[in-house]
Formats: sequence, C-alpha cells, structure tokens
Amino acid sequence: MLKEKRILLGVTGSIAAYKAVDLTRELTKRGAEVQVVMTEAATRFVAPLSFETLSRQPVLLDMFSLAYGSQIGHIAATAHADLFVIAPATAHTIAKLAHGLANDFITNIYLASRCPILLAPAMDSDMYQHAVVQENLARLRDRGVHIVGPASGELASGLTGPGRLVEPADIVEAIERLLESSRDLVGEVVLVTAGPTREPLDPVRYLSNRSSGKMGYAIAEAAGLRGARVILVSGPTSLPPPRGADLNRVETAQEMHDAVLSELEAATVVIKAAAVADYRPKQVASRKIKKDETVPEVTLESTPDILAEVGKRKGRRILVGFAAETDDLVANARKKLQRKNLDLMVANDLRQPGAGFDSDTNVVKILDARGGVEELPLLSKRVVADRILDRVVQLLKQRNQRAETGNRKLETG
Ligand SMILES: Cc1cc2nc3c(=O)[nH]c(=O)nc-3n(C[C@H](O)[C@H](O)[C@H](O)COP(=O)(O)O)c2cc1C
Repeated sequence: MLKEKRILLGVTGSIAAYKAVDLTRELTKRGAEVQVVMTEAATRFVAPLSFETLSRQPVLLDMFSLAYGSQIGHIAATAHADLFVIAPATAHTIAKLAHGLANDFITNIYLASRCPILLAPAMDSDMYQHAVVQENLARLRDRGVHIVGPASGELASGLTGPGRLVEPADIVEAIERLLESSRDLVGEVVLVTAGPTREPLDPVRYLSNRSSGKMGYAIAEAAGLRGARVILVSGPTSLPPPRGADLNRVETAQEMHDAVLSELEAATVVIKAAAVADYRPKQVASRKIKKDETVPEVTLESTPDILAEVGKRKGRRILVGFAAETDDLVANARKKLQRKNLDLMVANDLRQPGAGFDSDTNVVKILDARGGVEELPLLSKRVVADRILDRVVQLLKQRNQRAETGNRKLETG
C-alpha cells in the first residue's frame, strides 16, 4: 500500500515529537519515501539527525535555504507528494493552518499542497478542549483536512484526558486508509454543475435564486483531490474556482444546458448541484424597463430540463441529482429520481436549520435507485461532498464489476 508513496511528514514542537521517529521508521519500512519537515520548536525535542538517519533524506527546516537546488523548497516539496501528515500537530501550528499564516516550512507547504492532509493533534487536555483549539480543528475539518485522534490517557503534564498523540501504528493505518480513498476517482471525469442561474428580464434585471454554489464547488474540490478530472459548469457565484477544475462559467439555464451537453461526452460521472431556474421571462426587453411606464406583467416560460436531458443520454454514466424541497422531501425526491433516470438523489430539507442555500453546512438524505435512503447528520458541505462521492465510488465499482462479469460471459460463451 505504501510502496513508493511520497509522504511529507511535518513534526511540530510537542513532547510527543519522539513518536514521529517511530512513525518515520514504520513508514520507510513499508516502502514509503518520507520527507521530514520540522518546526524550529520540534528541534528542541528531537534532533533532525534522528529523522535524517531513518528517512535517508535531509530534514527540511530552514525555509530560506534553497533545499532543492535552486528551487523554492515548499513548492518543490509538495510537487510530488501523495500525502502530507503532521504528527504531532501542536495547538500553535493548528492555529496557523486554520488561519492561513505561513511563516515556516510546514505552514507554507500546507498552503501550497494539493495532496490529502492528515493531522494528528497532541497537546495537554485543557489545551485540546479549549474552545479556540476546537474551533480551529473544526475549521480545518470543514476544509477537507483529515484528523486522527487524539487519544485519551495519561499526559506528560500528569493530567489524564484527551490530547495524547495516537500511536504510530494508528497513524500508519489512517494514512493507508486515506491513500486508498484519496485516489479512488483516478481515471474518472466528473462533470459538476453549481450555483444559480440568472434569467434576464431586461439588460439590468434578472430572476434568480439564493443558491451560493458552495455545495457544487465543494464536490468539485473533493472530486479533484480524489484524482478525478473535474469539469465545473458554474452559474454566477462569488466563490474562488476550485483548484485544478476546468471551470466553464455560464449565466442562464439555456447556457448551462448547452455547456453541460457539450461537456457530457467526456464525463463518466455527472453531479448536478446547480439550482437551475425552472422558468424564465418569455420576453426579454432590449432596453431597461422604465419606472414611469405602467407596471409590467411578466409572462414566464419553462427553461430546458437539463437533468432530464442528461438522464436520456446517460449511457453508462453515474448520474446524481439534487432536490431542494420544503414539503414531502423523500416522496418528491424519489419521484424525481425515477422520472429522471438518476442513480442517486441528494435531498435537501430546506426547513432544517443549517441546510440548503448559502449555508456552509447541509443536512441531506441520499436516495438510491434501489429504494435506499441514507440520512446524514448536520455536516459541513465539504464533508457532505465526500460522503456523496463515497456513494459514487461504490456505484462505479459495481458498474465495473458488472462489466467484467459480462465480458467473461462473452469470452466463455
Ligand atoms: C516541554 C514542552 C512540551 C510541550 N508540548 C506541547 C504539546 O504536546 N502540544 C502543544 O500543542 N504544544 C506543546 N508545547 C508548546 C509548544 O512547543 C509551543 O506552542 C511552540 O510554539 C510550538 O511551535 P510549533 O507549532 O511551531 O512547533 C510544549 C512546550 C514545552 C516547553
């Protein structure tokens, strides 16, 4: 599993830093290439030489020395890394990561890296339970950072409670699990739609909805991290483009329809998280409608049904839709799933606090085509994104298994 994997191991200034020596040994024993990065404080607990001997590589320590020949160290270090693990992670480094501070090698690598990130916090239990540490960890979790531990037990301070660094064997196991899931969309092309559409009434006015695009952008980011090529067709949002995604910006439902159908050929998975307008003004005034004219009456007409269209041309693709409802959530979502030939339907209950538009969290139910309903608790949209992709990966595996069985039957038949 770890053979030839390139692992960046960040070590920070905790009393548990000595356990990172064991972790380095375990990782290299399993065939991983380990590059250790230490904070200044970490060197007060363990000498870099211990890590250098076990990893057979110089430790990255001084950000201002050009560690990789003439290249900038933190950029070069991240270029080929499969995973960045920080163990132990101190309260101080966790705070810097949560707020984007970057004054040492580890924090710069965090900002520059595209690989999965795993933190193993270690600190005194009063520190760990402090609200600000909990807030910082939650912030990082919501951004897709994975966290293992801490364990509960006797601490260096003499106190007993949560805060102990988990054992190196548990960190190795978490790394293996993460590496396995982190590349499970390699070779897939995931087409995601996100955000609202705007349906013009005149050159300055439009009909739209409250979608922020956060759910779709979180899915695009998560799919990219799991190795997929991502095409994001996005209505107007104020969000920064997810790293690595091919972004196609559109405004109207018609433009979204055209963009999705033109990208569909390449896609193996389609996830339609956009809140596309169902109706648009039938007439679009070519000049701004003046206030002093009589109150205008607006006649609406239907927009193209993108999801139904994609459902018809689905082929072997996995197709995931979203339904935002205020009434009869599951019944309505199930009808839509069947009518539109979907594999999964993610149903948002708009009446639940923390769910739906413009929120950073969501409360969803995932319906499948076999009649199953998975209810997820209140989670950040980034975590929901991964849970949806876990289901997509399951369906891809089942589809591939069916194809293999079919091929074998053909060969023997
Ligand atoms: C003996 C000793 C043990 C420490 N252990 C921890 C620890 O386990 N966790 C922690 O968050 N901070 C611990 N600290 C405090 C950190 O070393 C300090 O916050 C430092 O600034 C961390 O820097 P860094 O995050 O850049 O490595 C300890 C300090 C001392 C003196």
